[in-house]
Amino acid sequence: MDLREKIRVIEDFPKKGISFKDITTLLKDGDDFRYVIDKIVEIVKEKEVDIVVGPEARGFVLGAPAAYSLGVGFVPVRKPGKLPADTLKFEYSLEYGNDALEIHKDAIKPGQRVLIVDDLLATGGTISAVAKLVEQLGGVVASMVFVVELTGLNGREKLEGYDVESLVQYEF
Ligand code: PRP
Ligand code: MG
Repeated sequence: MDLREKIRVIEDFPKKGISFKDITTLLKDGDDFRYVIDKIVEIVKEKEVDIVVGPEARGFVLGAPAAYSLGVGFVPVRKPGKLPADTLKFEYSLEYGNDALEIHKDAIKPGQRVLIVDDLLATGGTISAVAKLVEQLGGVVASMVFVVELTGLNGREKLEGYDVESLVQYEF
């Protein structure tokens, strides 16, 4: 399957110069959605994943079904103020703005092997923040899997040392 045909590209969204990769066109098709989740699961099948972590919001859509398929739990990483129990917070910069992410302090047990899933790797700011949160809790990042990678933004360099996988690549 050529995922490029399934992903809608919208120029100048959410601001001028950004070429937005819209996966909603892929998600709304049951066969395409299943294909993507099955691919993620296949990529990590030898990685001994104990738990999946996904960042709000688009990381939930992909991470939760991947966890279900792997037969492991799912942990949400959320924007500040959304998680009700004790949290760890990490501030980061992304392709268009600054933000912070939080995780529940009791979400990961030390030594657990964590699969991080998100829709898109751009600058890598978001996923670095997620990895830092996981590691601060004693988790081990087993793999990071993205549907889309924007290679021209060098996110992969920022993530040096991690196992980084993506299903489809665009320059920007
Ligand atoms: C987008 C995308 C990734 C992140 C990638 O999320 O879903 O999570 O940006 O960019 P980066 O590699 O430069 O960090 P966004 O923060 O726009 O929020 P959303 O998932 O809630 O839509
Ligand atoms: Mg996101």
